[in-house]
Amino acid sequence: MLIRNVDKNDFESIKEIKPVIDSVTFDDRILRQAKGDVDFLVLEDNGDLKCFVLLKWKGKDTHPEYPDIEDLYTKASERGKKYGSTLIAECEKMVREKGFNKIGLAVNPNENCSAHKLYKRLGFNDTGEKTYIDGVYNGVEDWCIDMEKSI
Ligand SMILES: CC(C)(COP(=O)(O)OP(=O)(O)OC[C@H]1O[C@@H](n2cnc3c(N)ncnc32)[C@H](O)[C@@H]1OP(=O)(O)O)[C@@H](O)C(=O)NCCC(=O)NCCS
Repeated sequence: MLIRNVDKNDFESIKEIKPVIDSVTFDDRILRQAKGDVDFLVLEDNGDLKCFVLLKWKGKDTHPEYPDIEDLYTKASERGKKYGSTLIAECEKMVREKGFNKIGLAVNPNENCSAHKLYKRLGFNDTGEKTYIDGVYNGVEDWCIDMEKSI
């Protein structure tokens, strides 16, 4: 198993993980990674890309004070094999090594209760702050809560 940074040539393989990702989003992540603002990480197993995540060093609007995990995504046929948990553990390690003592993420606890459960199992706690619209996808508002973990 190998965890590495996504490369500009990985677009098609990343699309195999998440078919709805577009090239504008992908290119923007590669650019931000080159500037050092994010690490766009992918987990490879047996030469096949299984799961990716965007680690944002400057956090998110609601919590710019610590790094944030965004868009954790495992190929649909490969879920439940701990690839997601492994990438989160790698993010925690990287964040700890850079001297931070907290890491965050956002989740829609109603629409994505299995991911919410997973994050709780991995030690993330709801911050208790108010829910907010994290984005609008195909006209549907994505209502999220923030979670954080002391590391
Ligand atoms: C959430 C997600 C990243 C987890 O990735 P993963 O590689 O399956 O993670 P793990 O194998 O480490 O953990 C699996 C856990 O995720 C949850 N899960 C969510 N959707 C799942 C699915 N379709 N299949 C299996 N487990 C799923 C389960 O609660 C499972 O817990 P368990 O091990 O106690 O059964 C993955 O389900 C995914 O890509 N979902 C779509 C994108 C998404 O919702 N991302 C999160 C945005 S906040």
